[in-house]
Amino acid sequence: MEYFEIIGGKRLSGEVYINGAKNAAVAMLPAALAANDVSVLENLPYIEDVHSLVDSLTKVGAKCEFTDRHTLVIDSRGVRDPLAHYESIKKTRASYYLVGVLLGRFGKAEVAIPGGCNFGSRPIDQHVKGFEALGANIKIEHGMIIAHAQKLVGTNIYLDVVSVGATINIMLAAIYAEGTTVIENAAKEPHVVDTANFLNAMGAQIKGAGTDMIRIVGVKRLHGAEYMIIPDQIEAGTYLIAAAITGGEVTVRNIIPKHMDSISAKLQEMNCKIDVGDDFVKLCVPGKLQSANIKTMTYPGFPTDLQPQMTVLLCVAEGTGIITETIWENRFQYVNELKRLGCHVTVEGRAAVVEGGIQLTGAETYATDLRAGAALVVAGLAAKGRTLVGNVKYIDRGYEELVQKLANLGAQIRRVEIEE
Ligand code: EPU
Repeated sequence: MEYFEIIGGKRLSGEVYINGAKNAAVAMLPAALAANDVSVLENLPYIEDVHSLVDSLTKVGAKCEFTDRHTLVIDSRGVRDPLAHYESIKKTRASYYLVGVLLGRFGKAEVAIPGGCNFGSRPIDQHVKGFEALGANIKIEHGMIIAHAQKLVGTNIYLDVVSVGATINIMLAAIYAEGTTVIENAAKEPHVVDTANFLNAMGAQIKGAGTDMIRIVGVKRLHGAEYMIIPDQIEAGTYLIAAAITGGEVTVRNIIPKHMDSISAKLQEMNCKIDVGDDFVKLCVPGKLQSANIKTMTYPGFPTDLQPQMTVLLCVAEGTGIITETIWENRFQYVNELKRLGCHVTVEGRAAVVEGGIQLTGAETYATDLRAGAALVVAGLAAKGRTLVGNVKYIDRGYEELVQKLANLGAQIRRVEIEE
């Protein structure tokens, strides 16, 4: 089995270049199927979730060719078959975007129910509600989402919960719908805006992305587009937290600092010094880290995808902090693994009380999902001695070259194969 082996205690310093946003990339790959044409996506992160989706796109008939590590040409003229039930579909949550895009383009889609990180129930009722409101008939049978529509017609859809996936999926289905679709209580995350921008570059008419009301006027035809994906705010945040936990001095480059506001503000509150430039954020730790309370929220609030990494930081900061998870019902599973390193965290429902000031000690651990894996790596950087993080396949799904990038910053970390 593959592990990341970390010998903790090294102070991180230097610069790290941030790749394209995973959660934008995994929406934009299916979105490229909306046009019967050729599109080019630049700044794609080189991660397993992207590779699974490229595999799925190929299987539905698109021709995909990497012209370099981060640039993909997608020719979707060969896409005829709205049936997607391959193994690769089950690997990534974002495969559900194939339902929206194929339904929009062909009036039908049959897509295997996707897998992805498991942290409690991950319903898709709001996606279904949106498709049905547009006039589609949706059945969930034999592990497949089956969608059919004679014709899609624009309408008003009010989401019961703010959902990134439902917002993007409804947007994808509504591009070709007759008339105007309005999504109210829409998600405002940067990757929602980025996907809308890509679709608009292809000729869609989407307005209001980034606010809680998105208006889509249906069009008859889209064309291919060349588009550069935004940088990954969660990857950037993970490196800032890693820098903070080692008392380091690190600059994350190639980012949009505005997307980092909630994270930078929380790190400042914890006594980190933050300098912001046009495309970078620099962090250093002039004194002792102080604990803080954190509540995960939809954008522009503090992102749930940095909650596990932040819990680890609270473990070493002075004082007690409470971290409240409002997005996912069961995203504290990793705490049991973290306890192997000696942390004092008590989970009570959706909140975790984190006792700080702890010297973590290295241990063998297993990632329970992508961000949990990142959190265990962050913990290993601060722990005394050797930490092993197993189930690295989760981490590979969302972080490009995590080991190499941390090593370049001075961490003692490597990928090792250990016999069972
Ligand atoms: N929800 C419903 N019904 C739905 C859809 C969502 O009740 O039909 C609920 C969920 O149960 C959850 C909340 O709404 O409580 C938010 O879910 P959302 O739909 O926004 O999540 P998602 O689109 O499935 C994306 C990211 C996640 C990230 C969340 C929240 C992708 C592929 N995934 O998931 O990213 O945590 O938004 O920001 O974009 C990660 O990167 O590690 C990750 C898990």
